[in-house]
Amino acid sequence: MDAIPELPQNFHPAAEFPVVRSWTFLNHAAVAPISRSAHQAITEFADQAMQDAYLTGKWYTKIEEVRESAAQLIGAKKSEIAFAKNTSEGIAFVASGLDWQPGDEIVSTSVGYPSMVYPWMDVSQRFGVKHVELDELQGRFSTQQILDAITARTRMVALSHVEFASGFRHDVAQIGQYCRHRGVLFCVDAIQAIGVVPVNVAEMNIDFLSADGHKWLLAPEGAAIFYCREELLTRLSPEIGWMNVVNANDFGRRDFTLKPDARRFECGSHNVPGILALGASIRLLQGLSLPLVHQRVAALTGYLRRRLMEKNYRVLSSANAGETSGIVAFESQHGPQRHSSIVHELERQRIIIAERVGRLRASPHFYNNLEDIDRLVDALPN
Ligand SMILES: Cc1ncc(COP(=O)(O)O)c(C=O)c1O
Repeated sequence: MDAIPELPQNFHPAAEFPVVRSWTFLNHAAVAPISRSAHQAITEFADQAMQDAYLTGKWYTKIEEVRESAAQLIGAKKSEIAFAKNTSEGIAFVASGLDWQPGDEIVSTSVGYPSMVYPWMDVSQRFGVKHVELDELQGRFSTQQILDAITARTRMVALSHVEFASGFRHDVAQIGQYCRHRGVLFCVDAIQAIGVVPVNVAEMNIDFLSADGHKWLLAPEGAAIFYCREELLTRLSPEIGWMNVVNANDFGRRDFTLKPDARRFECGSHNVPGILALGASIRLLQGLSLPLVHQRVAALTGYLRRRLMEKNYRVLSSANAGETSGIVAFESQHGPQRHSSIVHELERQRIIIAERVGRLRASPHFYNNLEDIDRLVDALPN
């Protein structure tokens, strides 16, 4: 068996992730279990909300602390972070907030999750924007193929940092650098990336980023991080509500001058328990060390790829340096028609993976171990 970087001695997977007591959970690319830290944040909130209403919780101060942690997590400034309902809402801030012109072009992929496809189809239909969708080749893209699709009319490149069905990780840093140089906007869906592979919006020249917390951040659904580069804050027109204006707490006033920072996208009350839970999980990952999290997932997925190939499964996910992620997509030699029965049989054995667009998809996180991978591969039919 391979060696994998050790977790700190005072970290006990079964204590922080009790899910391991009942399941071999290898489906973090879908909806992950929440950490015990996130659970505690929610129960503390619920207790305070029930007993003291908003009087003792200091929730709004804590939300600003989560904003700071989220900014640190992705290399942004606090003033560039807004909380959104989900990844889709953050993408919608961009799609519905920009002043699209007929003839503008958007470059994206044809294998994106629908939240990275439909908004651009909609923009294309409504404003006469050309939507250029690039095809993958055997689960991969070449960066050059993406750069070559950029023309003088390209207004934006819109990509998922990690593609959901193949696990392919785009070279976001190189694409971002090229986009910035060409004056093209760069919008990234990072829900399959943050918490599992390094993401740094400043170093990667990302302009807009959106990611909910319910996958690799081990937080509940419905509390997402939206990043907008400072210089572009006024380029997006947000929805207007009571809370995103400068004098939000002066309720008799009739002046809707927007806040100068990314809070201009938060039009009304927050999902307080969701954001507090998101903050608790981010702190957990930061406390453990994100590089250690990344290295452990890389070791687990590397081992999984090797064991699958030994068992004659066809692995689609790229093993090239910089192209790996937490997702391993693979196919049975008996064809995709066997996949859903495989997923159900595994679930009967309390092993959780997913089927996505005709592929099997396993997605371990850092607290999984090599025995979990063995249990999966041993349970797969020959
Ligand atoms: C690439 C990608 N984007 C977005 C989502 C989910 O979006 P939302 O947070 O809006 O539910 C998923 C979920 O599977 C995904 O894989």
